This record gives sequence, structure tokens and C-alpha cells, in this order.
Amino acid sequence: MARKKITVVGAGFVGATLAQRLAEMELGDVVIVDIPATEGMPAGKALDIMESAPIYGYDARVSGTTSYESTAGSDIVVITAGIPRKPGMSRDDLLNTNAGIVKSVTENVVKFSPNCILIIVSNPLDAMCLVALKTSKFPKHRVLGMAGVLDSARMRTFIAEALNVSVENVHAMVLGGHGDTMVPMPRFSTVSGIPITELLPKDKIEAINQRTRDGGAEIVKLLKTGSAYYAPSASTAEMVESILKDKNKILPCAVYLEGEYGVDGVFVGVPAKLGSKGLVDVIQLNLSVDERAQLLKSASAVKELSAALK
Ligand code: APR
Repeated sequence: MARKKITVVGAGFVGATLAQRLAEMELGDVVIVDIPATEGMPAGKALDIMESAPIYGYDARVSGTTSYESTAGSDIVVITAGIPRKPGMSRDDLLNTNAGIVKSVTENVVKFSPNCILIIVSNPLDAMCLVALKTSKFPKHRVLGMAGVLDSARMRTFIAEALNVSVENVHAMVLGGHGDTMVPMPRFSTVSGIPITELLPKDKIEAINQRTRDGGAEIVKLLKTGSAYYAPSASTAEMVESILKDKNKILPCAVYLEGEYGVDGVFVGVPAKLGSKGLVDVIQLNLSVDERAQLLKSASAVKELSAALK
């Protein structure tokens, strides 16, 4: 059986770390692409990853390039190209710069991999997904955004810390847009099946929710240059794995909604089943009045930002 092929566009912090993780997980051969101005850099990072393979013991070809020919026939293409946030910037401040980048990258990708599944990582995430969907003209099951897995992983980290339990016992659900209005869902966040609403007092849960919403900014503030990449790349790798191994994992992802949760015509984070065709199903949770109101508020923030796309 031939190996799967995964292209990662953007050989920066997120892209290169993702390429390393995909190779170590032996999910397929990996092609890293960046702009011509970075000449040599993607190839250099790819070779460095290849030379770790004998030590870690993985068989995956990793190559780096500044042209799209060698991306041809990719099963999955992950787009991490763009500029990251600086301290004090919101994800939304990146809107039109990254929209231009995502549009041109998508055009190139589609030329060489017309049947791929696109996973978008560039921010502001939900709006960039819409740019990729419109530019690619792909069906919605082949355009996904990575945000919810990351936001939920952050929430899981804080829950595990608060209760001093293994992170493996903790599941969390964060829905909505990947921005300040994201909606952590304590009722659907559990420790070995027990909702955290039965394990933690209200004020502690609210503090965890707020730290989750601010999770990206907390890292940006500490790093001073650039934004998070270890957890974002790990989150993307989990989505790639669920698709390529047809695992049908239910993961919170940004998907194009057409009426689900009362939202229409935008990408918003919802629980999604990911398998070999990409998006298999949107899972509809039975939300409380308050949860639904928060989700709709977040969706309208995404809608407003998406409408500002030039
Ligand atoms: N085509 C390909 N690559 C591009 C393009 C383009 N048109 N424009 C920029 N890039 C590349 C840059 O050359 C750089 O190598 O994208 C890479 C981005 O890398 P970093 O600056 O290290 O940014 P990173 O931390 O990886 O974040 C990338 O992911 O999480 C999001 O908000 C983050 O939008 C940002 C993206």
C-alpha cells in the first residue's frame, strides 16, 4: 500500500513542528512548502526531520520546497501560512493580510491536489476557512478548521491541573469561533465520564473558562514574538490522524454550517466526526438556553468578521 501524502503549507513554527509530528506518527510522506523568498529553508527543515528518523525509527519521506509541483496528489493539505500575532494583537487583526495569503495558497494547492482535504490553521481561523472554501470550491466536507481541538486541549490542561488528575482522564468541549467569544462547555467537559460541574465549584469553572478563552493570548504575551505552535501542531496532527486512519473521532472543529445549531453560511466550531471523507457528521448537542445564546453570539461575531473580508 502506498503511503499517504500530506502537504503542510508554511514552514514556520506551526508548519515545521506539525511536519515533525506527522512524520513521527508515520501518518504518511510529508511535503513542506513555503514562499520563494524562504529558498532553502523548507528543504533544510525537512532534511533535519529526515535525519531524526533513524533515531526515532519512523519511515516517512519529508521534503521541503518553494514550488507546488511536488505537492501533487496530496491526500491532505494543511495551511499554516500567514503571519502570527504579536502581543496586544487579536487574531482578528490578521484578517486581510492572512486572507490574501490563504487565497493564493488555496489556488496553488487546488491546481495540484484537486481531491485533497483542506485543514486550515491560519488565523483568524473561521474567516480563513471561509476564504479556503470559496476559493477551492470544494464541498464542505473537505474544508475543515483546526481550533476546537486546541482550545479543548487547553481547557483539559487546566481541568487536570485543578483536580490533580491525569490529563488522559479529562475531556473538554469548546465550541464557537476561535476568538474571544469561544464557548467552553463545562456540562460537556468530563473527568472519567463525570461532568466537571459535579467536581468543581462555579467560580473555579469560570476561571478555567476564562483562561481557556485567553489561552492563545497568554502564550503570545509570554513569547513576545509569535504565537503558540506545540499545542496547535499536536491538535492538527490529531485531526489528520482521525481522517487518514478513518477513526471517526468526534473532535470540535470549525466546519461550514448550513442550519445546524441555527447557524448558516459561516464556519463555527462544533463537535464533528472526522473520517476518510473528511467531515462525516456534525454532532448536534442538546444545549441549554444559555449555552445556545453564547454559541449564537459567537457565531454572529464570526459572521461580522467574515463580512469584513475584502
Ligand atoms: N505561501 C506559503 N507560505 C507562506 C506564505 C505564502 N503565501 N506567506 C507566508 N508564508 C509562510 C512564512 O514564510 C512563514 O514561514 O508562513 C510561515 C508562517 O510561519 P510563522 O511566521 O512561524 O508563523 P506560525 O507561528 O507558524 O503561525 C502560522 O498559524 O496559528 C496560526 O495565527 C497563526 O496565522 C498564523 C499561522
